[in-house]
Amino acid sequence: MIDDIRAARDAALALVEDADSLESVSALDTQLLGKKGQLAVLKTQLGSLATVDEKRAAGQAVNEAVQVVSTALEHRLVELREAAVSLRVQAERLDLTEYVGKPTRGHAHLVTQAWERLEDVFIGLGFQVAEGPEVETDWHNFEALNMGEGHPARGEFDTLFVDCAPAGGEPGRTVLRTHTSPVQIRTMLTQEPPIYIVAPGRVFRRDTPDATHMPVFHQIEGLVIDRDITMADLAGTIEAFTKAFFGAGFTSRLRPSYFPFTEPSAEFDIQRPDGSWLELGGCGMVHPNVLAAGGLDPEEWSGFAFGFGIDRMAVMRHQVADIRDMYVNDIRFIEQF
Ligand code: DAH
Repeated sequence: MIDDIRAARDAALALVEDADSLESVSALDTQLLGKKGQLAVLKTQLGSLATVDEKRAAGQAVNEAVQVVSTALEHRLVELREAAVSLRVQAERLDLTEYVGKPTRGHAHLVTQAWERLEDVFIGLGFQVAEGPEVETDWHNFEALNMGEGHPARGEFDTLFVDCAPAGGEPGRTVLRTHTSPVQIRTMLTQEPPIYIVAPGRVFRRDTPDATHMPVFHQIEGLVIDRDITMADLAGTIEAFTKAFFGAGFTSRLRPSYFPFTEPSAEFDIQRPDGSWLELGGCGMVHPNVLAAGGLDPEEWSGFAFGFGIDRMAVMRHQVADIRDMYVNDIRFIEQF
């Protein structure tokens, strides 16, 4: 009997060791320790043994065997569970230090590059960088720039109006700035002359996008206020800028024009080394009404201003055929520059 018990125990332990899944362990549990298991069957045969000593010894052996098999089943279960977890961890492993291929680095957008280069060049010429809000009052955007209510030049700015009124703004008279020129006013009102500033920034017009227009674009404004500033200072500054930004082979010219905020006013063009002319922006001597709106005495101070588009500079520099391409964020376009 004792030998049968040992044989049953060893056979059971061998099966447990071979079990390779959680399901087979739980099946073995019923098969080996259940009522129909060999050990249970042997237990029912204890009564047929002849002596009390034999019964006790065999009874003890069966109980021990059941204990050993059940412990082995538990161990196997734990082992298989751990193996399953480590398999899953291995499968889901993400090695973030693993890198195949050539590293790609991002870079500033085409317009940002032009913006920063313009700042650099003007800082090199002695200017400081100023800024103003994109949501602007009608007064700063038009009125103070010598474009009062009903001035025909207002119509040339396809203005976007906003319903709310920011601090200092009148309801219904608040706009998305149509140009960077209001920064002239804000600077005069907050800084003592002499003033030598450029103000790059985002501007807005009610316009349908096409190859050469965007409703949101960028300008850079320049303002110089000092004593005895003349048109010659303006022309000299534009020429110095042209050479510094485009190169020694470029030159500039002023053409008479009209802007409400300057008198006299001019357009400035640059000439490429191949002799062709390109229109760049507007400029002129700051109008006495504008100086007065900025809190300055036109008898004491004089100055010049200029303004031009930043996006157009980027388009020209890189021969971009359609200005809209710069704003759709197609990486195949953007990564070329
Ligand atoms: N603000 C003008 C525009 O958006 C550009 C401009 C022209 C700015 C003449 C100036 C200037 O400062 O003097 O079309």
